[in-house]
Formats: sequence, structure tokens, C-alpha cells
Amino acid sequence: MNFLNFISGDQVTEILDMQTCIQLMRETLSALSRGEAIQVLRTAMRLEGRNVLGVMPSALLAKNVVGTKVITIVPDNAYKGLPSHQGVVVVFEAETGSLKAIVEGETVTAIRTAAVSAVATDVLSRKDANSLAILGTGVQARMHLEAIRLVRKIDQVYVWDRRPESAVKYSEEMSEKFDISVVPCATAEEAVKHADIICTVTAAKEPVLFGRHVQKGAHINAVGSCTPDCRELDTELVKASKLYTDRMESANHEAGDYLIPLREGAIDETHLLGEVGDVLLGKIPGRQDGEEITVFEALGLAVEDLAAADFVINQAAQREMSR
Ligand SMILES: NC(=O)c1ccc[n+]([C@@H]2O[C@H](COP(=O)([O-])OP(=O)(O)OC[C@H]3O[C@@H](n4cnc5c(N)ncnc54)[C@H](O)[C@@H]3O)[C@@H](O)[C@H]2O)c1
Repeated sequence: MNFLNFISGDQVTEILDMQTCIQLMRETLSALSRGEAIQVLRTAMRLEGRNVLGVMPSALLAKNVVGTKVITIVPDNAYKGLPSHQGVVVVFEAETGSLKAIVEGETVTAIRTAAVSAVATDVLSRKDANSLAILGTGVQARMHLEAIRLVRKIDQVYVWDRRPESAVKYSEEMSEKFDISVVPCATAEEAVKHADIICTVTAAKEPVLFGRHVQKGAHINAVGSCTPDCRELDTELVKASKLYTDRMESANHEAGDYLIPLREGAIDETHLLGEVGDVLLGKIPGRQDGEEITVFEALGLAVEDLAAADFVINQAAQREMSR
């Protein structure tokens, strides 16, 4: 491998703008639901405490690419001033098996996750949704505000974090960056009670969002919990919602928000309605009226990383050639 085979986070940011990534994720989730991708469950190797090494393989044969993301997740890194997610996406040509490039994975993860939530929000939230609540103030909280604004005309944002000073800092930074009102809230209830769209983007193990606080007609992107024993949503909320996910197989193995109410007997398997890709393809219905609460349970898929990384590699190569 030579030096040119590595694409840095700065290059990813330069090439993969959010609007482009939303379109790319729309195509990728559709391709997945059409059966055009090979997507296996991730391996999450537990380290000390809640630290994890994740290996996420997938293939997009129509694009002639196969690869894997390798990522470490260290939730307490925030206290050390380090990112909680660090890694790379390794991309090969599927036909020859030759390495195309290695792409910095932290930035790919940051952008593609929010872009996927934007796709889900676009198909599941009310068309007139104009207020947004964000629970959490980390990397995903920042990316989600950017992404959701691109699919709905948001004019009011509420933010909550378990550390009130983080919510204040977030509101100062984001209101200036996007020229929008961002209100820091003392409680999650205060943040969500008037919100049409809610994004839970925390590393919480226990629920931070409760059904009794969510208004009718809201859409929720549940992004933070990706293991069977952790959840951000309480049982009451999941039970009262129409529940969708990115990948059924992943939800059946990894989604605490779904699996805990299932284990409790509060819902059965029919409660999980299907994949957002299926809604995009018109195979299953999405929202039926303005009163329903919809939930998108995002587990995060290798194929999303692969599609994003491959796009970046191809664009970088084109830019190199036209120099
Ligand atoms: N579904 C996906 O595709 C996907 C992709 C990336 C990240 N994630 C998950 O989303 C979450 C946020 O990711 P990030 O990159 O923004 O992380 P981050 O480390 O930048 O931010 C974490 C946020 O969670 C909050 N938090 C931590 N512990 C908490 C607790 N016990 N209760 C309430 N809040 C708590 C922190 O205050 C912070 O606001 C993580 O759990 C991460 O693993 C999911």
C-alpha cells in the first residue's frame, strides 16, 4: 500500500457534503432492501467497561466494492478530549480483490449516520414538521442538526444533555453556525414536549426519552443505542409507536430499544414494521396520518460506510486526475 491509498478525515469532509450523503444513503438503503448488498451482522468485541472493537463487513456488488469498517468505540473518551469513535473503512474491488483505499472512519461515521436519519425523517415525519429536539450534544448531535434541516424546514431547536453546560455550549455554537434558535433545556421532557422531530443521540444505557413526554405526530430517530442491553426509549414509547429500522436482522440482534420491550412481553415481533428501505421502495407503508408517532431505530450498517467511503475514493481519484 502506498501513502496515496489513505484518505484523511479532512478529505472526507471536503468531498462528502451532507446533502450528497443523504442522496447516497437513500440509494444505499434502497439497494439493500432490493437485495443488492451483502450485509452481515457486525462483530462487536467487548473490551474493558463499555469499550468495543467493531468489525463491519459488507459488499455492494453492483458497484464492484467489498470492504469493512474497523472501529473502536470508547464512550468515556470525551473526558480525555478524544473522539468516542475512531477507525477506518478498508475498501477493495470485489472482482479482483485489490485494495482501492483506506478511508478515515470517524468522519464517514459522523456524516453517514446523520444522513441516514435524514432519509428516515424525510419518509416518516410529517411534511409540516418544523421543530426539532436533540438529546445529547456530541458529534452526532451536531451532525443531526445539520442533516435534519436539509429535509424539513426547521425553525426551532431544543437541546438537552445530562451536563447542562454542554447544552448551553451546543446552543451557542449551533445557533450561530445555522442562524437558528437553539434553546438549551434543563430536562429532556422540556426539550421534547413541543418537538415534531426528536433525535436521541446519547450513549445512555437507560431510557432518556419517555412516551408520556412525546406529543402526537412526532417522529423519533433513535440512534444512540446499538446493543441489546442498552436503550434510549422507554417501553411505553416503543409500544405507542410505529417502529421502523435500517435492517431487520440487525434490529433482531442489536436493538435494545426494541428487544427490551419484546423481552418484557409489552410488544411482539409484528411490532417492528420493516426497513426504511422498504418504505422508500413502496413495499410497506410509512406514516398514515398526522397523529401517529413514528420511530426509526438506527443500528448503523456497514453498507452505509462502504457506500460513503467508495464515493469519497472515486471522487478523490477524479480530482487527482483532473489536476
Ligand atoms: N446508529 C448509528 O449508526 C450510530 C453511529 C454513530 C454513533 N452511534 C451512537 O450514538 C451515540 C452518540 O454518538 P456520538 O458520536 O455523538 O458520541 P459522543 O461521544 O460525541 O457524544 C455522546 C453523547 O452522549 C451523552 N451521554 C453519555 N452518556 C450518557 C448517559 N448515560 N445518559 C445520557 N447521555 C449520555 C454525552 O453527554 C454526549 O452528549 C453513541 O452511543 C454512539 O455509539 C450510533
